[in-house]
Amino acid sequence: MSNSSRLKGARILITGHTGFTGSWMSLKLAALGAEIHGFALAPETKPALFDLADIWSAFKSHTLGDLADFSLLSDTVNRVAPDAILHLAAQPLVLTGYAQPLRTFMTNTQGTAHILEAARLAPSVRGVVAITTDKVYAPDPKALPFTEVAKLGGKDPYSASKAAAELVIDGYRHSLAAWKRPMRIEVARGGNIFGGGDFAPHRIIPDFYRAVQSGSPLKLRKPNAQRPWQHVLDLCEAYRLLLERVLGEDARSPGENWNFGPEAQDSIKVIDLIRKLEAVWQPMPLEVETGLHETLTLALNSNKAHSELGWTPRLSLDKALQWTADWYKAAIQHPDDLPALTRRQIEAYDS
Ligand SMILES: NC(=O)c1ccc[n+]([C@@H]2O[C@H](COP(=O)([O-])OP(=O)(O)OC[C@H]3O[C@@H](n4cnc5c(N)ncnc54)[C@H](O)[C@@H]3O)[C@@H](O)[C@H]2O)c1
Repeated sequence: MSNSSRLKGARILITGHTGFTGSWMSLKLAALGAEIHGFALAPETKPALFDLADIWSAFKSHTLGDLADFSLLSDTVNRVAPDAILHLAAQPLVLTGYAQPLRTFMTNTQGTAHILEAARLAPSVRGVVAITTDKVYAPDPKALPFTEVAKLGGKDPYSASKAAAELVIDGYRHSLAAWKRPMRIEVARGGNIFGGGDFAPHRIIPDFYRAVQSGSPLKLRKPNAQRPWQHVLDLCEAYRLLLERVLGEDARSPGENWNFGPEAQDSIKVIDLIRKLEAVWQPMPLEVETGLHETLTLALNSNKAHSELGWTPRLSLDKALQWTADWYKAAIQHPDDLPALTRRQIEAYDS
């Protein structure tokens, strides 16, 4: 069976579908002919991509609920009876992790356990693709760029909650045989994701958009921190490949961990990213602030995804920033065009 025909008609439950990545991924899966269902909180930002680009119209059903509510989550999984689950829902911000550590651990760690348990109990589910982050790795300059076998760690609540989610996943993977429950759990670890429609606080490109809107200077927390910058559609393609794998014939493997990082030249300092963004958008006055602990340098080795999945980033950093600037400029000047523009960018990426 060819890869693309596996998703056509497949029933996929997406957690976190009301968020930034979830919105892009939902449209991509719908365009591939999947029947999509969602589970998440209502959009948390105003504005939100989910509303601006009419994402809701792509769903067969969507449930607004909290991952903490196992009974609602489990009922949703049983009602939808998905072939696979894409688990994106999370509290995804390092700074919010410091402000709300319990919510962060509840959502990211316990929430992952709830998803896996609901999946285990639902016979329709062939596998789960769980999205963690490059921040699951224990900071160690000697281990850079991290391969999938590098040590897990986490020096702040967000990083620790995602590393702990991976321990939960490993515990489930290793117990599947004892439960006689064939199911794959694939884990995707990506870097700093950007693209049109992200309005989260404390993220550099949404901050740039807000500075354009308000006319005030852009505040930079760590201008010299180097980050693996990636367009959201390169990650969505990675998640598609893992969903195809989960839907494949071979359920004997309990699943693996995968790094999806950018090409080496696209891991650049925050300040250099801003200079590139200014070139495709507009000049921006800057202010430098001191912030809380955040890992200074992160880099991923993605050789395994290149060789075993055939995944490579398709968009150069310059092109990805151009598409992103186009999207935010439209949000300011032609908001009515956003549903069509978002779908055009997905089509252009996939063509
Ligand atoms: N954006 C990045 O740079 C980046 C980098 C690496 C990994 N990730 C991971 O990718 C995933 C998606 O990130 P994003 O940037 O799209 O986030 P986002 O904040 O835009 O979306 C998060 C989604 O999770 C849902 N959610 C949050 N708490 C929930 C709860 N308690 N119950 C149910 N739903 C809940 C929200 O409603 C939303 O739909 C997350 O797992 C994140 O950790 C993101």
